[in-house]
Amino acid sequence: MVEVRKAVIPSAGLGTRFLPATKATPKEMLPVIDKPTIQYVVEEAVTAGLTDVLMVTGRNKRPLEDHFDRAAELEEALAAKGDEARLEQVRASSNMANVHYVRQGDPKGLGHAVLKAASYVNGEPFAVLLGDDFIDERDPLLPAMIEVRRRYGGSVVGLIEVPEEHIHMYGCAAVKPAPDGPALPFDHTSLIQITDLVEKPAAAQAPSNLAVIGRYVLDPAVMDVLAETPPGRGGEIQLTDALRTLAGNPDVGGPVHGVVFTGRRYDTGNPIDYLKTVVQLAVDRPDLGKEFREWLSDYVREGFQI
Ligand code: UTP
Repeated sequence: MVEVRKAVIPSAGLGTRFLPATKATPKEMLPVIDKPTIQYVVEEAVTAGLTDVLMVTGRNKRPLEDHFDRAAELEEALAAKGDEARLEQVRASSNMANVHYVRQGDPKGLGHAVLKAASYVNGEPFAVLLGDDFIDERDPLLPAMIEVRRRYGGSVVGLIEVPEEHIHMYGCAAVKPAPDGPALPFDHTSLIQITDLVEKPAAAQAPSNLAVIGRYVLDPAVMDVLAETPPGRGGEIQLTDALRTLAGNPDVGGPVHGVVFTGRRYDTGNPIDYLKTVVQLAVDRPDLGKEFREWLSDYVREGFQI
């Protein structure tokens, strides 16, 4: 069985929920405190052992390329000031992974973005990490998903439980119990098998409260399926539609499993979840957390009136 070595990070969306910030800046570059979201995502891939990364980019995505490249002038200036700590941080983002880029052209949907990675993937299984959310490093999800691929082959989809009234915002999985086997070696994960998927169903039509989040480990067979998948909801080529085909035809690309995740996950694709992410991570930061927590407690106690 070929090991998962490659990660694909689709980052070509228009980010309309974050306008006007995303008019000239990709939403994946919005900072969570002092690091762009995309760096958390690449770190997540690297921590799971995936050091070869393809970013699918689009219009306005130059800053992404610059962020993972050397910044010679900046490095010289920091070195001249003797600011070793910041120099180290600036170098870290250009050394952490082997990052490649492909342009999506028209953003015709997540499935279309993943299909742009076909020649990079070259017949190997691969992970997909959406560029606008990330998993807390203390609660690893991707290693659990890679372990499932190792055991059963096929594809693996990250899932979370959501309240019934939120399921219409997500892809939704119909599931059955997974084959008997040892529990996954991570506390906050459990395994199920996916029998079908529906993109953004109304609550009454949803087959479960299990929502697809932006983490996948995919069998390369998904590429041939995507090439044949017509535009679906919103006129976009939906990755969910291709996974649905795979789930219904296990002889094509193996089974489709789901890993239900109960750990910490941060969404940065819309303003309210972005704000929550910044606050949650700020209170945990060793260098800022104490002062920020004290200020936040006072602010709340005083009825938001400091
Ligand atoms: P979203 O639907 O959240 O991204 O796609 P969006 O379209 O940029 O956001 P809004 O809805 O307009 O605010 C999830 C991920 O898939 C990527 C996005 O960059 C994001 O990381 N994506 C989406 C692509 O790469 N290409 C696409 O055609 C669509």
